[in-house]
Amino acid sequence: MCYAIPGEVVGLEGSRVVVDFLGDRRRVALVDPDGPAVGDFVYAQGGVVVSTVPRPAARRILAAWREALVELDRLDEAMVAAGIVAGTALDPLLDRAEAGEPLGRDDLARLLAPRDAVERRALRATGNRVRRRAAGNAACVHGIVAIGSRCVNDCAYCGLRAGNRELARYRLTHDEVLAAAVAAVDGLGFRALVLQAGEDPGWSTDELADLVREVRGRCQALVVVSLGAREPTCLDELHAAGARGLLLRFETSDPSLYAALHRGPKADREARLAALRRAKALGWVVATGSLVGLPGQTAAHVADDLLLARALGADMVTLGPFVPHPRTPLATAAPAGLDLALDAMAAARLLCPRVAIPVTTALERLAPDAGRDGLLAGANSLMVDVTPTPYRARYDLYPGRDAGDARADAAAAAALLRSLGRAPTDLGRS
Ligand code: 5AD
Repeated sequence: MCYAIPGEVVGLEGSRVVVDFLGDRRRVALVDPDGPAVGDFVYAQGGVVVSTVPRPAARRILAAWREALVELDRLDEAMVAAGIVAGTALDPLLDRAEAGEPLGRDDLARLLAPRDAVERRALRATGNRVRRRAAGNAACVHGIVAIGSRCVNDCAYCGLRAGNRELARYRLTHDEVLAAAVAAVDGLGFRALVLQAGEDPGWSTDELADLVREVRGRCQALVVVSLGAREPTCLDELHAAGARGLLLRFETSDPSLYAALHRGPKADREARLAALRRAKALGWVVATGSLVGLPGQTAAHVADDLLLARALGADMVTLGPFVPHPRTPLATAAPAGLDLALDAMAAARLLCPRVAIPVTTALERLAPDAGRDGLLAGANSLMVDVTPTPYRARYDLYPGRDAGDARADAAAAAALLRSLGRAPTDLGRS
């Protein structure tokens, strides 16, 4: 398995290098200042160099991939063409979006409220076409290590809420985190790792910085942190330790809906936005977005969520369907519909053509083919849970996250991408 292909450094631009990936040129940021030289080969992820690759190995890997990549691209092209639907009332709006005209709140709300199944098909097929035109068939696959399940907040939808006293909480030791990271990177080929936890001030900034440094020291991978709304100064420390990405949803852009759902000492909406802005200022890969299908949420709210994700400069727009958790106040609320979740991803693609859009693990829980449907609606990224098996079930955000293991999930992700003509070769941002 391979979640990046080697590229050749063809130019140096200070803290960035220009890399040629089989003819596709990208500007890629360096984490370490003593970076590669022209002629070296590197792996990059999310627009960040994660390692150099010895030249003979790079040439061998590229030779092995060359034909497969052409085949995958052909399959993607055929699948995009096969999805085309024309003649719906959405056509003028979809045409405007495809032409790159700006979409406003009303346009997005209209996209999010299709009148029938044919409009939905047209929207998603357009999402897929725009994805291919703007971002090609490259897909990024991130491994998530849930490093702890303690949380001081009491958010109405989340199974990790402090009020859920039945959950057996855990914090992984550094050795456990490292073992999971090494297994994911060296064993399964991941080049991007997300370290995730609840809002847990028990992890001090110093400890987190040590952890990031250890993971970076041992694993040639992009390290993304998803540890809640840490203070900007904490993010600076994590930057110094080598972190280069933040995954933090703002959950909903609507201040009153946010206030109705979020409780606790670390639930401040402004703190989340401040963390996201700091990450952007640091040049990190910024992944943010919202829950869709929340009780009380309208199409106009979701339209605003998409606009906020864009305004924050998201490199990845992550939209996850709400799944009611039995030990939360929203236990009996209606779950998000699969259709809304997919339509939101397609609309996100039309608004932000170049971003990464992941199929979230929550989406995959909604229906057996939901991951495939998401990738055909504009998504181009997968998240694989690589948390050590005994802890997986205890990271209980929403029901249905229990079974399976990292190796099987990674194999399924690679097979899914292959079946749709997607290359597991993230090329980065620009
Ligand atoms: N359904 C779906 N997603 C959830 N999350 C938390 N609880 C739920 C739920 N019940 C998501 C939040 C959070 C991410 C880690 O998990 O959006 O940002």
